[in-house]
Amino acid sequence: MRSVIDILDLSVEELDQLIKTATDIIDNPAKYAHVCAGKKLATLFFEPSTRTRMSFEAAMYELGGNVISMASAASSSASKGESVADTAKVISCYADIIAMRHPKEGAAYVLAHNATVPTINAGDGGHCHPTQTLADLLTIHREKGRFNNLTVGFCGDLKFGRTVHSLINALSRYEGINIALISPDELKLPSYVKKDVLQKKDIPYVQTTNLEEVMPALDILYMTRVQRERFFNEEDYLRLKDSYILTPEKLKNAKEDLAILHPLPRVNEISVAIDDDPRACYFKQVLNGKYMRMALILKLLKEAGTI
Ligand code: CP
Repeated sequence: MRSVIDILDLSVEELDQLIKTATDIIDNPAKYAHVCAGKKLATLFFEPSTRTRMSFEAAMYELGGNVISMASAASSSASKGESVADTAKVISCYADIIAMRHPKEGAAYVLAHNATVPTINAGDGGHCHPTQTLADLLTIHREKGRFNNLTVGFCGDLKFGRTVHSLINALSRYEGINIALISPDELKLPSYVKKDVLQKKDIPYVQTTNLEEVMPALDILYMTRVQRERFFNEEDYLRLKDSYILTPEKLKNAKEDLAILHPLPRVNEISVAIDDDPRACYFKQVLNGKYMRMALILKLLKEAGTI
């Protein structure tokens, strides 16, 4: 059964097709309003979420389908000790497709290997978050019109930021990508991503603690929140949480057509004074996420022969 655990589970051609479908949904929503009638999406969220869960649910409703939802681990039998493998077998009896978020890296693999319906990783610990990457890619496509020849700066918590790991993987398949990794020393990109992706594919990158130094070269600035929930002690989080705060002053040397992305939630890392800057794309990114999730649900249900 086809599932999306990692962004690399989708080929570049499939990503192009998803972008085409999402664009058609944006232009012709009525055409898609009943395509999933009578079908059910299950959203299993063992970790908090606003955007991912609600956009998956909005996506399924806008396709004419229905949703069954588990919004927290505490409200499910996981709190009594039920395994992810058993949960996958059980939910497959109720739903045609499953989206799951879980705090443990690898939980999405367990789900996919035990479910009998298509499954989607909605974020597994600090590992990856492929559908956020779909939102990011549609945003880049709509803002820049290309994925090749871009200089992309990732700023903030690059260690625990699963959206960063997934987007770097996705971009690594295009030509002319340059990466700037901007983080405190303690929150650098994990070496497995650096070695297995950037170095293996000969992608030029710089590592720095200084955002202003690289700002003039950037086409895209991907800001991230310091991931409090993945820290072992609060003291370290408090020391690092405000390492980068993007303000209008810091954009003085940025390109006129810079695109500022952030997977959200934002805590303090982008000043609200930037929200009205035409370069701020993070709320467009939220909406793009819903359209790409619609496209992905459609693709997986079609491949499974469900619609
Ligand atoms: N970007 C993202 O995953 O947001 P949520 O945690 O609110 O789903």
